[in-house]
Amino acid sequence: MKIDLPDRRVEWFPSLDSTMTVAVRLAHEGCASGTVVGADEQTAGIGRAGHAWHSEPDAGLYVSIVLRLALGPESLPLVMLALGLATRDAIADVTGLAPDLRWPNDVLLGEKKCAGILAQMEDDAVIAGIGINVGHSSFPPEIAPLATSLLLAGASVSREEVLGPLVDSVDSSCSVLAQRGPEAICKAFGLASTYAHGRRVRVDQDGTILEGVTRGLDPCGFLLLRQDNGTVTKILAGGVRPI
Ligand code: BTN
Repeated sequence: MKIDLPDRRVEWFPSLDSTMTVAVRLAHEGCASGTVVGADEQTAGIGRAGHAWHSEPDAGLYVSIVLRLALGPESLPLVMLALGLATRDAIADVTGLAPDLRWPNDVLLGEKKCAGILAQMEDDAVIAGIGINVGHSSFPPEIAPLATSLLLAGASVSREEVLGPLVDSVDSSCSVLAQRGPEAICKAFGLASTYAHGRRVRVDQDGTILEGVTRGLDPCGFLLLRQDNGTVTKILAGGVRPI
């Protein structure tokens, strides 16, 4: 893949186990903020909650970006939201499609996931792992009901076309968080996501299944869920599904 990202360090590999591994190492070595690690394929792509991330060769964009944001670990849920917004915006700009966001940061096209995001702290850096299904024409049967790609959603774009807008969008979304604060990110998420308010969902919270209607985000970026008995519960981790 031809990489054209001026003014930033890019380490691109034909194949890696996971871009996260290399990005974590570079972060510990003190690499600059904005450093991108990418691969044309991952042999052990990491998803959220212990899942694997299907990383077909040359079909998806698989990147980890090292971000030094001067924010503490308590801001990680907000960074997750900012990264979801950034990915959604980049896909919308490049394809003209209108992706939805499912808290905290699944990017959906027609209820199926086209991009997934991890964010982990390493010392003072956040490692943002972003996977976008760009040109997949099919998926393995076990994930086919849940996954889609930009191509399958009707947008024939290259990975190169998505990469530049994605890294720019990550920069600007993180600047919004750093400069305008949590409220701006929570507001933007509320506008971009049909899941933020009034959506009936089921949530797996540490093995406990909760059902209810979403009630927006708290100031830290956690999802609020009003259960049928009236209790409002703060959702701390993913696993939100429509009912
Ligand atoms: C999710 O489960 O929704 C998160 C998926 C994150 C996948 C990306 S692909 C690039 C980076 N490297 C990985 O191994 N995982 C992330």
